[in-house]
Amino acid sequence: MRWCITPAMLVLGIETSCDETAAAVVGEDRCIHAALVQSQLEEHAPYGGVVPEVAARAHLAVLNGLIRRTMAEAGIGFADLAGVAATGGPGLIGGVIVGTMTAKGIAAATGLPFLAVNHLEGHALTARLTEGLPFPYLLLLVSGGHCQLLAVLGVGRYRRYGTTVDDAAGEAFDKAAKLLDLGYPGGPALERAATAGDPQRFALPRPMLGRPGADFSFSGLKTAVRRLVDGLPPGPLRAGDVADIAASFQAAVADCLADRTARAIGRFRTDHPGANRLVVAGGVAANAMLRARLAALAEREGFAFTAPPLSLCGDNAAMIAWAGIERLRLGLTDGLDFAPRPRWPLDPDAPPARDGGAC
Ligand code: KG4
Ligand code: ZN
Repeated sequence: MRWCITPAMLVLGIETSCDETAAAVVGEDRCIHAALVQSQLEEHAPYGGVVPEVAARAHLAVLNGLIRRTMAEAGIGFADLAGVAATGGPGLIGGVIVGTMTAKGIAAATGLPFLAVNHLEGHALTARLTEGLPFPYLLLLVSGGHCQLLAVLGVGRYRRYGTTVDDAAGEAFDKAAKLLDLGYPGGPALERAATAGDPQRFALPRPMLGRPGADFSFSGLKTAVRRLVDGLPPGPLRAGDVADIAASFQAAVADCLADRTARAIGRFRTDHPGANRLVVAGGVAANAMLRARLAALAEREGFAFTAPPLSLCGDNAAMIAWAGIERLRLGLTDGLDFAPRPRWPLDPDAPPARDGGAC
């Protein structure tokens, strides 16, 4: 966290779209004054994944206290804020309702502007919070629910180059980890297991590799992992096999993401001559192997590369507060009649994903 002494426009951000309850106070000068995240890991672990109803109730139980603690840590009261922002979607609708209703309540009681933030825009603009990057840049957004390549042109202005035809990259990590009995959430657990493994022991498929376009596919890879596990000797999985499968899987995902990103770089270069920055965001951006692969790709292509600090890769409220600041600066506030959105694409005009496109 960075501590600042300059007074700047402050916004409270609230994030409740999945399984993290988060609140943060961020300044227009890019200072994060407080950022708290309360994970629901324990609530969901027995089910092996996020249960929407459990998530909504857990957000409701902790959000008010979390906001109080965040404000206290920032050392401010509501009167010091310029606005209150909450994730308005996309996400699990029960949680999104909890967050937006809370933010609207604060806005109604204090007269502060309310900002409904697209969760994906929160991830997309994180690099402007941490690095102050100018537009445009090419973004690989890789999380549990999304896997997209986008040209980020401005606040609320995105051009999607590719998306997944089936699973998101994080979802694939979670499913592979489940097959390997690595627990939930799968991404970090699989990455840990892979460190001891041989990425070349198993030849897993690389779906879409070399195809035109910048779309992704991961379901075939997950099926291949299931076949591998089914082919192992009966009984408990051996640690060496788990490590080798995890390493082989991680290498295959990294190959796919790097290949699709290379395609998107080609298109971005044509669309935006002179712009040359690649940014990665979302929970999977915490993966060290992926970060290294993307950094190497960017260097080869003559692009600069930005990855957020690990604490801002996964879901957090600092990114929501920051996107709120960006929107507030442009006067893009929302009415208290804003309806939470389970789906909310960044580029509503993007063609549907297809198995090979023009890129
Ligand atoms: O952005 P995020 O926190 O939530 C969504 O908006 O989906 O992303 C969570 C996803 C999960 O699928 C998790 O397994 C994955 O990010 N993830 C990782 C790593 N850390 C989190 N995947 C691979 N390697 C990691 N180190
Ligand atoms: Zn997210």
